[in-house]
Amino acid sequence: MSSRMSPIKLNLIVACDSKMGIGVKNDLPWRLRKEMNHFNRMTTGDSYDLAKHPGSENKRNVVLMGRKTYESIPEKFRPLKNRLNVVLSRDTEISPHENMVAFKSWEDAMKYLEKPQIQEEIDQVWVVGGSHIYKMAMESPFLYRIYLTKLAKEFDCDTFFPEFDPAEYKLVTDPKVSQEEQEEDGIRYTFYVYEKL
Ligand SMILES: NC(=O)c1ccc[n+]([C@@H]2O[C@H](COP(=O)([O-])OP(=O)(O)OC[C@H]3O[C@@H](n4cnc5c(N)ncnc54)[C@H](OP(=O)(O)O)[C@@H]3O)[C@@H](O)[C@H]2O)c1
Repeated sequence: MSSRMSPIKLNLIVACDSKMGIGVKNDLPWRLRKEMNHFNRMTTGDSYDLAKHPGSENKRNVVLMGRKTYESIPEKFRPLKNRLNVVLSRDTEISPHENMVAFKSWEDAMKYLEKPQIQEEIDQVWVVGGSHIYKMAMESPFLYRIYLTKLAKEFDCDTFFPEFDPAEYKLVTDPKVSQEEQEEDGIRYTFYVYEKL
């Protein structure tokens, strides 16, 4: 199905070190509380807060991730709350949960998200990693934006963001995202928003 015909619009969100590293030993290489708040705020969106957004009824956002990323979330925090967690795994049995659905392929997950009854229940779709899942999103005709936090420091990493060609994107602004350089625990970082051309 072409992007024009599909109701799916993928937002990708990632934090990378200065060499595009994203993870180590199935964990994040850093602990940045405010950066994590940014992730939670963007991926949860407004829709769950009915008091502030009464028109959005029961719509919630989707966080789409690979099995390792899902398992890297501490048990007490997963599935990520107020979001429908969609997990990709070919080989692993994942314990069912009311806030989580698992699929054996990217195509199956897309078909599920395109279903009219699911479309009625969901708002934004956020691709949250890891490496291969990001790659599939970037190759997908449904990709809309990449929300990239770039840390100005190199960490010990064993997992990296896939190659991406900036010429295929334009830098845009999102009123929800600060354009100022951030600093936390002595680590400087900047939020970039790339929109697929
Ligand atoms: N910095 C960031 O913003 C960020 C974001 C996310 C993750 N991370 C880090 O990245 C690391 C995890 O990422 P990762 O790249 O190693 O793993 P991942 O993408 O989270 O998970 C890989 C697993 O996903 C499943 N999978 C992948 N492609 C699939 C497909 N086409 N169809 C069905 N299932 C598929 C497979 O699960 P099975 O083996 O079960 O078949 C595969 O082993 C961790 O260190 C995490 O902390 C960082």
